[in-house]
Amino acid sequence: MDGAGETAVDKAMAPQDRLSAELAEDMAAVNVLIRERMASEHAPRIPEVTAHLVEAGGKRLRPLLTLAAARMLGYAGQDHVKLAATVEFIHTATLLHDDVVDESHRRRGRPTANLLWDNKSSVLVGDYLFARSFQLMVETGSLRVLDILADASATIAEGEVLQLTAAQDLATDERIYLQVIRGKTAALFAAATEVGGVIAGAGETQIAALRDYGDALGIAFQIVDDILDYGGSTAVIGKNTGDDFRERKLTLPLIKAVAKASPEDRAFWTRVIEKGDQREGDLAQALVILQRHDAISACRTDALAWAAKAKAALNSLPEHRLRDILSQLADFVVSRVA
Ligand code: IPE
Ligand code: IPE
Ligand code: MG
Ligand code: MG
Repeated sequence: MDGAGETAVDKAMAPQDRLSAELAEDMAAVNVLIRERMASEHAPRIPEVTAHLVEAGGKRLRPLLTLAAARMLGYAGQDHVKLAATVEFIHTATLLHDDVVDESHRRRGRPTANLLWDNKSSVLVGDYLFARSFQLMVETGSLRVLDILADASATIAEGEVLQLTAAQDLATDERIYLQVIRGKTAALFAAATEVGGVIAGAGETQIAALRDYGDALGIAFQIVDDILDYGGSTAVIGKNTGDDFRERKLTLPLIKAVAKASPEDRAFWTRVIEKGDQREGDLAQALVILQRHDAISACRTDALAWAAKAKAALNSLPEHRLRDILSQLADFVVSRVA
């Protein structure tokens, strides 16, 4: 349902842009804080690397979720700005580390920091941002918030490490995949929305609903990200496609295709994924097999089910214009692959 007083212009805007517009003042404060805290007087490499990544923008989805959750529940203070910046710092730190682990060369439409500088700088500046995020969240004085974000940070790392051991293994199934993405991606979405509710002093049912929304949204988001790795456009997603295949990751499209594999398909997957013997034309061949098994549309169906779950979680929250936008956002993250 659309919020009251919604104009045609509002409706034409992507939910993410509407969130940015609704929360423009808060988000401006978050960006000021990010710029302030991403620098270091002592090690010039730090502002070089962080500015490269931060100036490129990114969607700022997670900080918007924190701000929206807090405002939706009537928060009138300023600590949500600190929490939103904290969440974006944690996200940026994981991106720096992730691009080293994945040996990726493109991020936010730019060459990655590991490519422009080196792995050492990316890992260490990522560590710095993690530490800065903890300094910021401590400033809120809320132990509960610290607990949530510290847990999320540990869970993200667990998800990334689990993915490492699940890669190259054709036995990786949808259960393990869910565990990986719930950890590496949904944990931060869930924490982002949850801390917004906590700082606003929301009731436990509402906090749980916010957490469930973030969890389901994060899962839908990562399934879509994994679909786009097999068919998105580099210009749109700002990252190179085919990275997951090259890294021999068992993401959902592949898991679905492997489950339906003919003996010839299986021999192909064993060679390219398990043995890592990849040749020219293999990615195209993989796409043909995915297409034959309707793997991408099956993934999209799953993503839609998670989006529906996210929307259902919002039902236990009070009616609010921002709540309606969050509901539309759930559909929007899946429509990226429409
Ligand atoms: C990238 O997240 C990492 C994933 C969880 C897929 P985003 O797609 O939100 O990255 P930015 O911040 O917009 O660049
Ligand atoms: C993103 O994982 C999750 C984290 C950064 C923790 P991916 O490796 O799937 O995301 P992209 O495609 O590099 O953004
Ligand atoms: Mg990656
Ligand atoms: Mg990765």
